[in-house]
Amino acid sequence: MKFKVTATTSNSRARAGVITTDHGTIETPIFMPVGTAGSVKGIHSRDLQEDIKAQIILGNTYHLYLRPGIEVIEKAGGLHKFNRWNGPILTDSGGYQVFSLGDIRKLTEEGARFQSHIDGSYHSFTPENVIDIQRSIGADIMMAFDECTPGDADYAYAKKSLELTQRWLDRCINQFENTQSKYGYSQTLFPIVQGNTFADLRQKAVAHVISHNADGYAIGGLSVGEPEEAMYEMTEICTADLPEDKPRYLMGVGTPINILEGIDRGVDMFDCVMPTRNGRNGMLFTSDGIINIRNKKWQNDHSPVDENGTSFVDQYSKAYLRHLIISNEMLGAQIASQHNLAFYLWLVKTARQKIAEGGFRAWKEEMTERLKERL
Ligand code: GUN
Repeated sequence: MKFKVTATTSNSRARAGVITTDHGTIETPIFMPVGTAGSVKGIHSRDLQEDIKAQIILGNTYHLYLRPGIEVIEKAGGLHKFNRWNGPILTDSGGYQVFSLGDIRKLTEEGARFQSHIDGSYHSFTPENVIDIQRSIGADIMMAFDECTPGDADYAYAKKSLELTQRWLDRCINQFENTQSKYGYSQTLFPIVQGNTFADLRQKAVAHVISHNADGYAIGGLSVGEPEEAMYEMTEICTADLPEDKPRYLMGVGTPINILEGIDRGVDMFDCVMPTRNGRNGMLFTSDGIINIRNKKWQNDHSPVDENGTSFVDQYSKAYLRHLIISNEMLGAQIASQHNLAFYLWLVKTARQKIAEGGFRAWKEEMTERLKERL
């Protein structure tokens, strides 16, 4: 994997760049649609590529390992062959999903022991086996195994947890260096910076990850219940010390406004379930603000879902989409998800253009005001 910064800004840390993988290039800043179980819910690969213009999608080690299972994916020849998405794929390591399991998981020095949310069966993740699993999935970008602490963790816990994440990273890197890609293309491994909302822990975490000279770095443990200002402050502390010539990925973030704030602070990659999950519920993100399509006010509004939208689904009417969502029709969830993803991809593409042309900051300020609107 290679990364090249192609444009920078004078009054912000925002930058544009290009990541090159064996499955194609990614123009940054980028938003990565989430395909937890291998599919971006409700969206065909063709629409992801041609309509939404996604450049990379996410998969999840935890979900794919439990179902369909690694043997099935290996037999298919890797996830790209299995789901017929030919572009780059990034997989999360399972650290975050295991953390979300709450009572049905236990962390030890060795790794995490957890119960499947599907059938209650017992499993273990270790830094070594999550690398092996991600090798089998065939992700272009694999993530290190980490512990993501809750937003309200105290200093002692955050410090102890960070030290565990650091030892796990060393083991992940060792496993990565002693194993090979199974499908003939190259894979890379991103470490994850933890440290909760404590500035000194974040700085220590950054110093440790960069000592490994990886191809890119992720910022984790944010958007997990801490105040929004703390998320921005921690992001800024991390990007200040992360190397300029490597991509930075802010995990699980966020709203369109969070993404613009992240770009402003020097983040290059984002992912979030919000455009699809909230879309399925009837929340639409547009350049004029947020629409709750379930609202009665749209019942007889026959104007397009989004006049300025870039997707073909934006030509359906608001009244029709409201009807579909309220009637629990599958097509409603699909249209709303497709619209929201196309909007997120439009947002990061426009940010990229503004970074290259100049005027990113002014555009961001104006856009933020518009994104706050409730229509
Ligand atoms: N997704 C969102 N936040 C995190 C995190 O801290 N760690 C991992 N592995 N995935 C995430």
